[in-house]
Amino acid sequence: MSQNITIKEIIAEEPIDTTQIVLGWIRSVRKSKKFSFLVVNDGSCQANLQIIADADLPNYEQVASMRTGFAIAITGKVVKSGGRNGGVEMQATACKILGEAPEDYPLQKKATSLEYLREVAHLRPRTNTFGAVFRVRNRLNFATHEFFVNRGYVQLHSPIITGADAEGAGEMFQVSTLNPNQLPKTDKGHVDFSQDYFGQASNLTVSGQLNAEAFALALGKVYTFGPTFRAENSNTPRHLAEFWMVEPEVAFADLDDIAELASDYLKYLISAALEHCQDDLEFLQSRYKKDLIETLNHVKDSEFKKITYTEAIEILESTDKKFEFPTKWGSDLQTEHERYLTEEHFKIPVIVTDYPKEIKSFYMKQNDDGKTVRAMDILVTGVGELMGGSQREENLEKITQRMKEMDMDTEQLSWFLDLRKYGSVEHSGFGLGFERAVMFITGMANVRDVIPFPRTPNNCHF
Ligand code: 4AD
Ligand code: MG
Repeated sequence: MSQNITIKEIIAEEPIDTTQIVLGWIRSVRKSKKFSFLVVNDGSCQANLQIIADADLPNYEQVASMRTGFAIAITGKVVKSGGRNGGVEMQATACKILGEAPEDYPLQKKATSLEYLREVAHLRPRTNTFGAVFRVRNRLNFATHEFFVNRGYVQLHSPIITGADAEGAGEMFQVSTLNPNQLPKTDKGHVDFSQDYFGQASNLTVSGQLNAEAFALALGKVYTFGPTFRAENSNTPRHLAEFWMVEPEVAFADLDDIAELASDYLKYLISAALEHCQDDLEFLQSRYKKDLIETLNHVKDSEFKKITYTEAIEILESTDKKFEFPTKWGSDLQTEHERYLTEEHFKIPVIVTDYPKEIKSFYMKQNDDGKTVRAMDILVTGVGELMGGSQREENLEKITQRMKEMDMDTEQLSWFLDLRKYGSVEHSGFGLGFERAVMFITGMANVRDVIPFPRTPNNCHF
């Protein structure tokens, strides 16, 4: 098997007249008495390889009776395609069936809806759509590391289990080895987590940021790229309970510095996809989003619009458009507001800064007005919020004060406060929701269709 060539290589190299072995799965079979056409895909690229199997193959009966979903090994000669579009095909000299697929194979040729495919999430990677999405996702993963490493960043593997609630929002999955049927209690009747595995309450992380700050204040420029978990009960096309986040954290940097970093990073991701995943993007465009490539080029070449939260509210209040949720200074922007700003008003990605402190996390740098913080959200079409970040409050007194106002446990986060005590400096960072970036760049409308096995409320089957 190690001698095989991928379909991607065959198409790129066109090794005409050589004998090759292809390993893949049957997409369709068109049979006649004298020969059959087998259409095979091996996942290496969007394109299929057409294989001509002549009736003089010793096992022709068996070959001609194959169905969609069979796994096969084909040995054959690469020849110029007789078809109008040129390219290559293969004249089979041997065809070995590696794995059969009964007639009830769940992926039949007739159009299969994305909703249906979520029910067969273990098989959907074999469709054109999911092949394309996951090849693009892979490229964006690689481009992320390329981007940060080329700029001198150090990747930090931040912990998955933590005692901290990084976002202070309390939407965490608990991690415990206590027996839920026999929970030890304190005198006050609360669960006694001192008897738990870590000797304290612990949970799956909602963000690697707090740990990244510790390393940024030593190594200068770091980034995390790992799974994060949110137990918010949000059944929307943009929320997952388990998602991947990219979080750069930079010492000696202010909000404007990381807003620029964020724009450059998004543009780098887009360029990587346009350069390396052209066929997949063209396929996705033809199926799901007519102006996908034009939009990506537009975003790549444009300067993002920067406005304050207060300006955003003014724009939203002065439009005639009717929103489901009212807009009022002090309330958080809803997805409909975010999408209006980026899709209809500015038609480019929008960086909204300086949000009211009440709707943002405790660690954000407080502005002199006493009302707002140095936060930023970056909004893009089709998604809304793609990235969220801020300049961090580096003043020990101010951050401690804010935590107390928010009723947070300063003892639990004393190590984080130490960063403000010893050699504290201006620093900033942001988090990009990786699935939302994949959505934006593939044009897929639902976050469930850009992660291999989505975790959402009532859905942890696969
Ligand atoms: O805005 P968030 O909550 O910011 C943070 O967690 C900061 N600690 C990041 C930082 O400054 N280092 O999350 C960051 C991004 C969001 O903009 C969004 O794209 C994505 O993570 N995100 C989700 N993606 C999918 N499902 C969810 N439930 C998400 N929650 C946030
Ligand atoms: Mg956010």
